[in-house]
Amino acid sequence: MERIGFIGTGEIAAAMVAGLTGRGHQITVSERNGAMAAALVAQFSDVTIAPNQQVIANSDTVFLCLLADVARAVLPDLRFRDDQRVISVMVDVPLADLRSLCAPVNEIAITIPLPSIAVGGSALPVYPDSIALRTLFGDTDMIIPCPSEAALNAHFAACAMVSPILDQMREGAGWLAALTGDQTASEQYVATVFAGFLRSMTENPETSFADLLDSLATEGGLNATLRAHMRDTGAVDALTKGLEDLKPRLGLED
Ligand SMILES: NC(=O)c1ccc[n+]([C@@H]2O[C@H](COP(=O)([O-])OP(=O)(O)OC[C@H]3O[C@@H](n4cnc5c(N)ncnc54)[C@H](OP(=O)(O)O)[C@@H]3O)[C@@H](O)[C@H]2O)c1
Repeated sequence: MERIGFIGTGEIAAAMVAGLTGRGHQITVSERNGAMAAALVAQFSDVTIAPNQQVIANSDTVFLCLLADVARAVLPDLRFRDDQRVISVMVDVPLADLRSLCAPVNEIAITIPLPSIAVGGSALPVYPDSIALRTLFGDTDMIIPCPSEAALNAHFAACAMVSPILDQMREGAGWLAALTGDQTASEQYVATVFAGFLRSMTENPETSFADLLDSLATEGGLNATLRAHMRDTGAVDALTKGLEDLKPRLGLED
């Protein structure tokens, strides 16, 4: 049994709690957001609510799930213990800052959960490698230790691809629904098509995106035609440009 605390009970904390609940842990979430904290307590019997300082006092591992500016305002007034582990999920708060904000904690790591952590099977890049993270999520999610903080920050940028690509899938599903009249079935169809391709990669690490694209490259075929259209109209370059533009914020300038 682990005693786990969350400072900042927002979207990502709620997803992590959903992923951790029911496994014999004692989970304490902070009072804000009040509605989210109350919903978690109503849904899960192993979750309680406490003020920020009490969350820390009750926990062996503390997840920091605040926005960066809030963290810089709130953490200096909180007292941590040197036997605790802190795992931040926050972008824009580097490890050096966390070390002073959470002193005297020695075991501090940064990871990048996404909301799909609620159902397991998600990827968790982490720097530095964290036994605490492996203990809590290693059985359900893929822990990806990064060799440096810069490498972790590159993963922060890469995971920003999720919403623009989901947006494209929503757009395509909406286009399909306009022809079939069934939005739900259209979204499920698109999700299932992609899930199948992605599963073939995650179940066989030898398979690359290039392999999947080769399997869809029939000359004159519908897939090849639409893919060429997207490249020709600059949609693919726009993605790369958007990733490049995130570099300064993440300290990834060459
Ligand atoms: N969402 C994601 O998919 C995702 C993925 C990876 C990393 N992250 C990182 O996770 C962090 C949180 O993101 P989020 O999407 O979960 O944001 P969010 O939903 O806005 O959650 C932040 C929470 O912090 C609470 N808060 C504000 N002031 C507080 C205080 N003084 N004490 C305790 N809690 C306080 C907010 O409560 P109020 O609503 O009452 O202000 C809110 O519930 C960010 O740093 C983000 O970069 C998010």
